[in-house]
Amino acid sequence: MKKEQRKRIVDRHRDSLLRHGYHPNALYWSSREIQELRFEVLAGIGIKSGDALLDVGCGFGDFKRWFERQGGELKYTGIDLSPDLLAEAEKRHPDAEFLCGDLFDMDFAEQSFDWVILSGALNEQLGDKGKYARRVIKRMFALCRKGVAFNLLDARHLNAHDLQSHQPEEMLAWCRGLCPDATLHDAYLKNDFTIHMRR
Ligand SMILES: C[S@@+](CC[C@H](N)C(=O)[O-])C[C@H]1O[C@@H](n2cnc3c(N)ncnc32)[C@H](O)[C@@H]1O
Repeated sequence: MKKEQRKRIVDRHRDSLLRHGYHPNALYWSSREIQELRFEVLAGIGIKSGDALLDVGCGFGDFKRWFERQGGELKYTGIDLSPDLLAEAEKRHPDAEFLCGDLFDMDFAEQSFDWVILSGALNEQLGDKGKYARRVIKRMFALCRKGVAFNLLDARHLNAHDLQSHQPEEMLAWCRGLCPDATLHDAYLKNDFTIHMRR
C-alpha cells in the first residue's frame, strides 16, 4: 500500500473518532447490528472459546467484545493502521495484544494463530484492482492453523468509486486455488459477502 493511501486511512479514522467517539459509526459501520451481523457470519467458520485469533483491521477490538458477550474467550491479537482506534481498543481490552501497522509490517511466523479474520478492512479503493486484497488474504492464510474468514463488498450490488468491491464467485475461485475448502456466504447483507477458508 502506498504511503499516501495509508495516511488517508489513518487521517479518516482520526477524524471519524473525533466526530463519533467510541461508536461503530467511527468505523464507518452504519450500526452496531450491521457490524455484529458480520461478526456472527465470520465466527460461523467454527471459532471456539480458547482459540488464538488474529483480527486484521481490528478497529476498537469489537470482535473480541462481541465474542465475549456470547460467553467465549479468545487469545486475541488485533492489528490496525490507526493508532487512534488502537488507543481506544487498548483501554477497553487490557488483556489483548494490539499492534499498529498492516500485515506486511509484522513478522509473525507461519501458522501462529488458530484463526485469522478480517471485517471491513479491505474496503478502501486502492486503485489496484484488488491486488493488495489478494496479497493480504494469501498472507492471512499462511498465518492460520485452522482457517481464515473475511468479508468484502459485493460488486454485484455496490459500485461506489471510492470503495473497493469484488465479484464473489471470482474471489471464491481464487481462494480455492489457495485452499480447496473455501465457501461463500452472501445471504446476510445485500452489499457484502464472506469467505471461509478451512485448512
Ligand atoms: C470498517 S473498519 C472495521 C473495524 C473492525 N474490523 C470492526 O468490524 O469493528 C476497518 C478498519 O480497518 C483498518 N484498516 C484499513 N486498511 C487496513 C490495512 N491495510 N491494514 C490494517 N488495518 C486496516 C481501519 O483503520 C479500520 O479500523
